Amino acid sequence: MSRIVLGVSGGVAAYKAALLLRALTEGGHDVRVVPTPGALHFVGAATFEALSGHPVTTDVWSDVPEVAHVRIGQEADLVVVAPATADLLARAAMGRADDLLTATLLTAHCPVVFVPAMHTEMWLHPATQDNVATLRRRGSIVLPPAVGRLTGPDSGPGRLPEPADIAALASVVLASGAEALAPDLAGRRVVVSAGGTREPLDPVRYLGNRSSGKQGWALARVAAARGAEVVLVAANVELPAPFGVRVVPVGTAEELRAAMLTEAGDADVVVMSAAVADFRPAAVAATKMKKGSASEPDAVPLVRNPDVLAELVTKRAPGQLVVGFAAETGDDDGDVLAHARAKLARKGCDLLVVNDVSAGQVFGRGENAVVVLAADGGSTEVPLGSKDAVAAGIWTAVRNRLPSSAEG
Ligand code: CTP
Repeated sequence: MSRIVLGVSGGVAAYKAALLLRALTEGGHDVRVVPTPGALHFVGAATFEALSGHPVTTDVWSDVPEVAHVRIGQEADLVVVAPATADLLARAAMGRADDLLTATLLTAHCPVVFVPAMHTEMWLHPATQDNVATLRRRGSIVLPPAVGRLTGPDSGPGRLPEPADIAALASVVLASGAEALAPDLAGRRVVVSAGGTREPLDPVRYLGNRSSGKQGWALARVAAARGAEVVLVAANVELPAPFGVRVVPVGTAEELRAAMLTEAGDADVVVMSAAVADFRPAAVAATKMKKGSASEPDAVPLVRNPDVLAELVTKRAPGQLVVGFAAETGDDDGDVLAHARAKLARKGCDLLVVNDVSAGQVFGRGENAVVVLAADGGSTEVPLGSKDAVAAGIWTAVRNRLPSSAEG
């Protein structure tokens, strides 16, 4: 069981900290909440105490013999500050210790994740941006804020990401360390496809597959957390959009192809994690096929769908990386990696993320393990972990092969 300190500073988004606390404890973590005095204007200490099972104090004068201001930070495996207000970021960047939370930040040896939430002007102010740069230079993670509705009727960057997104990202840092969310995709544009296409037979039926879209969702969420501008082309996935990600919903392989070709134009990285149907019914019945009627089919003839990945490869912009996925099983002709190497060469992409599905793993499951094969002969093993942790491993393999950005 990991020990997480949840720091909460005084912004209206503090109410979401209660939901985040719930998500973290349900994830099996022991969570200690350390609010600033300002945070308690928004959410009462009793709420945090009840949900965490620990006492809550804001100052260094309670429980003095316990030396809480030193012990809480020292014992933590992870500190998450959500919401992190402009004032909290400023105090943390200055190294102040004027309440229990800032004192805890000075004694923590573990990774620290700040999740900013504030009004857009405050976020974009050079003072705040300098403080963020200082904290990042020292190794802290500062997530980019979500864009959307703020406290009043206005909207812009400054919104707190949804608690489920923050909890998933916190788990990645616990599993893989702070590097997993390094801001190394800032200034990059990435396009990810996810889910599974559905090819209609008639107005109510389709040929589909079992892809849940979870791995593609995790890829989008982690890329956004690492600073990328992310477009997620989503085939039939019901999950809520990850923060900071623009979702383009599609249904069929043909729709997915059109959306990918439109979005891929100026992207630095294109990732085809969607399960695209290789075949579709040759004809779609205009009305429902009924049993015993003239429309009852003897057989359903299929035709080939376009290979979207192969087309993206032939149309790729200079410097663009194209990443394919492959679910493989070993057989008499070769093992999983031999088949995957052959597919990488056949498809012509730069990287191929290989899932071994021999034992019926992966589909719909929370965990995954992959090998990332590169066209240059390299390979990276990403060990079994949450789909977000696997996404972080994939992005590190991608980042290592990206040409350096124009900004240098
Ligand atoms: N893919 C695609 N368009 C298709 C089928 C697949 O873009 N019509 C992409 C998938 O998104 C994935 C990669 O191609 O990134 C590998 O898909 P897979 O179906 O395993 O490849 P195939 O060439 O169909 O190989 P196989 O002969 O093993 O079915």
